[in-house]
Amino acid sequence: MSEFKRTLVTTALPYANGPVHVGHLAGVYVPADIYARYLRLKGEEVLLIGGSDEHGVPIAIKARKEGVSPKAIIDRYHEMIKQAFAELGISFDVYSRTSSPVHHELASDFFKKLHDDGKFVQRSSMQFYDEAAKQFLPDRYIVGTCPHCGNERAYGDQCEACGTSLNATDLIHPLSAITGNVPELKETTHWYLPLDEYENWLKEWILKEHEEWKPNVYGQCKSWLDSGLQPRAVTRDLDWGIPVPLDDCEGKVLYVWFDAPIGYVSATKELTPEWETYWKDPETRIVHFIGKDNIVFHCIIFPAMLKAEGTYNLPDNVPANEFLNLEGEKISTTRDWAIWLHEYLVDFKDKQDVLRYVLTAIAPETKDSDFTWKDFQARNNNELVAIYGNFVNRALVLTRKYHDNRVPARGEVTERDKEVMEEINKSVERVEMCLNTFHFRDALREAMGLARTGNKYLADTEPWKIAEKEPDRVATVLNVCLQVAASLSTLMEPFMPFSSARLREFMAIDPVAWKDMGMNAVAAGHALGEGGLLFEKIEDKTIQMQVDRLEEKKRRLAARETQSAPAKEDVSIDDFGRMDIRVGTVVAAEKVAKTKKLMRLTVDMGTEQRTVVSGIAEQFSPEEVTGKQVCVVANLMPRMLKGIESKGMILMAEDPDGKLSFVAPDKAVEPGAIVR
Ligand code: 2FM
Ligand code: ZN
Repeated sequence: MSEFKRTLVTTALPYANGPVHVGHLAGVYVPADIYARYLRLKGEEVLLIGGSDEHGVPIAIKARKEGVSPKAIIDRYHEMIKQAFAELGISFDVYSRTSSPVHHELASDFFKKLHDDGKFVQRSSMQFYDEAAKQFLPDRYIVGTCPHCGNERAYGDQCEACGTSLNATDLIHPLSAITGNVPELKETTHWYLPLDEYENWLKEWILKEHEEWKPNVYGQCKSWLDSGLQPRAVTRDLDWGIPVPLDDCEGKVLYVWFDAPIGYVSATKELTPEWETYWKDPETRIVHFIGKDNIVFHCIIFPAMLKAEGTYNLPDNVPANEFLNLEGEKISTTRDWAIWLHEYLVDFKDKQDVLRYVLTAIAPETKDSDFTWKDFQARNNNELVAIYGNFVNRALVLTRKYHDNRVPARGEVTERDKEVMEEINKSVERVEMCLNTFHFRDALREAMGLARTGNKYLADTEPWKIAEKEPDRVATVLNVCLQVAASLSTLMEPFMPFSSARLREFMAIDPVAWKDMGMNAVAAGHALGEGGLLFEKIEDKTIQMQVDRLEEKKRRLAARETQSAPAKEDVSIDDFGRMDIRVGTVVAAEKVAKTKKLMRLTVDMGTEQRTVVSGIAEQFSPEEVTGKQVCVVANLMPRMLKGIESKGMILMAEDPDGKLSFVAPDKAVEPGAIVR
């Protein structure tokens, strides 16, 4: 690290089409904040950059769905996200947005320079066009049948049923998601960054010069590079984004993944006139915090853009994380399967650090990990409250009791005291080593280790038992404890800044510099503050409420998914006319032996009595059913069910949760009445 003078830390710019959730936080924003806070505490020059990604197809789609402008969407979420991050203590030096004029200008200029320097190739291709909407269709705007699994609602870029990535032209029966019309293929021209020309350079730069990158990042890069790079289009036919800054490019914008990473530069430019020092001076180190789905863009495409431009630094590291799941299932914004930060901040007021702690402890650093509310509660109660909080509280209460709330001077020091004193320095060293190599989980474990050491030391030395007989010993023990506590207020600061501030208030101390952690973190004689509880126990009922809320979400989700099951094909009135649906009255009913579901019904159809076998026996008794009027598909071909000939089918309505009700006339009618 020493050859660098400053560090620029960037965080993936979240799309401003929805709020942020715990998955975003664990993967990107909490580790980035820990890292930036740590460097600041060490006195290094550092900037933490963030902002909203406001272009791209998903935002355009959401706006269209809601019948509002994309601007209305991004304004809503940008402010919401920005505020939630601030409340969680993500210490951005700037939180900008890609709709800003500075960004539009910078991204346009960047594109123009690459264009004028001949770094792009221009190509024509056939793309789907919706004649009625008068626009080319981005892949997400095309739906059709997946050629792999037959899902009739696959998108032009991906089938969400089987997970296969698709090209829109792969779809069987493609339809425009805007008008529902069959789109036609039409020629269009785009600009491509010829990534193939950067392949050898990228191989050298990543695979040889950055072997220290995290294995998940290095591995993904290697696999992209091994399979060979293709030219990548950097423009799109879309009406939302940064217009292509060339003549005759009406209706074309920069590809969102071309402009978004330039957003890091624009945000820096908005923050400081020194922005070029942060991006171009070789003594600056750039670190990108991202999730695993962004690796190719930050390790391959953006570096190729920067290399093509020629005056920028390349990232020094890209410590991407894997994904966080929620209660065993993939987090999904569209399915509302998430814990939203803005909701957490309301439900768990003043408990920002608990979330920061838990998300760091379970961060998906090497593989996907899982957030559960039970684990959240256990980590709060058994670790934050029982270890860190308990240690600090006991040290402060004992000092008040035995030393008039002032830090006592150390007397003679025993081997046991020395061990603890040395442990402060060792913990600091270990935390540093972990943070320098982006091992945030381990770093937090090491920091908690110091609290654990303090707690155990108090339990072993039991100053409350020797207060009368050995006051000097008690003074030394409490002095050591208070040095540990004061050091912890700094060591924990990158992870849990709110409780660190509280701890300093309890002890009435100024911030302890990183280098001052140790045995002289707080002076003997210093008058402590009023003390208090660093963390509170979280009760079962609080957790149960959250679990219930998730259960409710699950129920709603299942309902939505059943209700939005693919609609059937359109039918003509003649098709419908071929059905003979009549009202009948059930005159007798009995369960079919050796089956769970089937009931044999005798139905008076006016002109005849019919036997119909129906799958309702689990939900209705024969007594309930007898006498009911029902609708029967009377001309359904007879079928043999468990040896009984069933002539017709009873119409039932089914709730999303599978509950059945009879479809029947709203007042009694003559058996045999026709339904049409
Ligand atoms: O995946 C995403 O959410 C993107 N909006 C991240 C963009 S990161 C950067 F390039 F801006
Ligand atoms: Zn499929």
